Amino acid sequence: MTFMRPVEDTSSALLKAHLLAVKRFRDLRFGLFVNWGVYSIPGRGEWVMHQEQIPTAEYAKLPPQFAPSRFDAEAYADLMEAAGQKYMVFDAKHHDGFCLFDTALTDWKVTRTPFGRDPVAELAQALCKRSLILGFYYSLLDWTHPAYRNDWPAYVAYYQGQIRELCTKYGEIGMIWLDGYWPAHPLPAPHFGEGGSWQLAETYDMIHTLQPNALIGNNHHVGPLKGEDFQMFEQDLPGENTAGFNAESVGALPLESCLTVNGNWGYHAGDHNHKSPRELIRFLVQCIGRDSNLLLNVGPTPDGDVQPEHVERLRAVGDWLRINGEAVYENRPGPVPPQPWGYVTHRPDDGRLFLHILDWPSASLTVPVPGDCSARLLCDATRIATVSREGAVTLSLPRTPPDKADTVVELTLTP
Ligand code: GLC
Repeated sequence: MTFMRPVEDTSSALLKAHLLAVKRFRDLRFGLFVNWGVYSIPGRGEWVMHQEQIPTAEYAKLPPQFAPSRFDAEAYADLMEAAGQKYMVFDAKHHDGFCLFDTALTDWKVTRTPFGRDPVAELAQALCKRSLILGFYYSLLDWTHPAYRNDWPAYVAYYQGQIRELCTKYGEIGMIWLDGYWPAHPLPAPHFGEGGSWQLAETYDMIHTLQPNALIGNNHHVGPLKGEDFQMFEQDLPGENTAGFNAESVGALPLESCLTVNGNWGYHAGDHNHKSPRELIRFLVQCIGRDSNLLLNVGPTPDGDVQPEHVERLRAVGDWLRINGEAVYENRPGPVPPQPWGYVTHRPDDGRLFLHILDWPSASLTVPVPGDCSARLLCDATRIATVSREGAVTLSLPRTPPDKADTVVELTLTP
């Protein structure tokens, strides 16, 4: 007798797997974004070709110079561990169309440069060894592929073919992060999407079929479209600046904010305006307080190194997370809503609440938490005196904040 699995079982198994993937994504909370390509060579950001109107023939002089002798996938995985980052979104193809993976669909790719290696394959291996998750940034917009301007169906087949490669050649992936389709910004061709349908529904089905645990996000700056699994925000906290976003859709899907350490995604030699570790930690905490992941970007140098100023900052955030990670990973906001001084988060089923105090109160702090509880600083276990009264707890805090970025107080509720 042959065993036939009822159709309903398959779909409920798929749904279960999807819900687990969504939970996993929300639990990760902190990832590394890597914007790297031949555009890193001039060192003026990843938009250099468009901004300086560099003709393709001229831009084509860059790949023969791509020889990042210091690229080391293990070093990236080490850095992620030191920074406390659980996933990476790597730039597989940016707007310039140049591919940082060994695609069979074009020669405009990394394995045709003096470097000759496939950084995506190397990263997939290094991250997998440490149970870190790899996902791909992929630009739908393409400034150099001839079909993008001349043969739309051929271009759609090309980009879908590349997404298929990314979903089949590098093991299990965590996400596909699309960019370059901006319906709210109808700017003139050839630099912005035009020429008809992107066939996104079909693309999304393909990704979900090939990689059932991968989530799909699209940086299109409009509310989430059907088939997308998370909503992303660029240089912005969810709900903070809703221009271009459907505010009502915020929170319907898992959220992710992406942020640059300085002002650029790709390497910019002249941009020294790096955010401080304190600013980065506070942005991360504000993300968690809004139930969002933070995808923090680095733009590696043409040699393949993460610039030292960024390494230093990522490590500092990691040092903070080693002490306070319990109040970040797997955390959700609540049950108390955002407060003027900061956020309350918790791990579901844990019986503890974490108060993230971003603005230190001058005296005591009263939090609307009913019942008795005990409190201590998460950083050094110092006890904090509490008085519970009329559905709220009042904490007697030290005069100055023990942690200038974010002091976390752990409240343990008495059952
Ligand atoms: C924007 C930019 C792109 C950058 C991306 C990251 O879409 O066009 O260059 O990589 O944001 O969020």
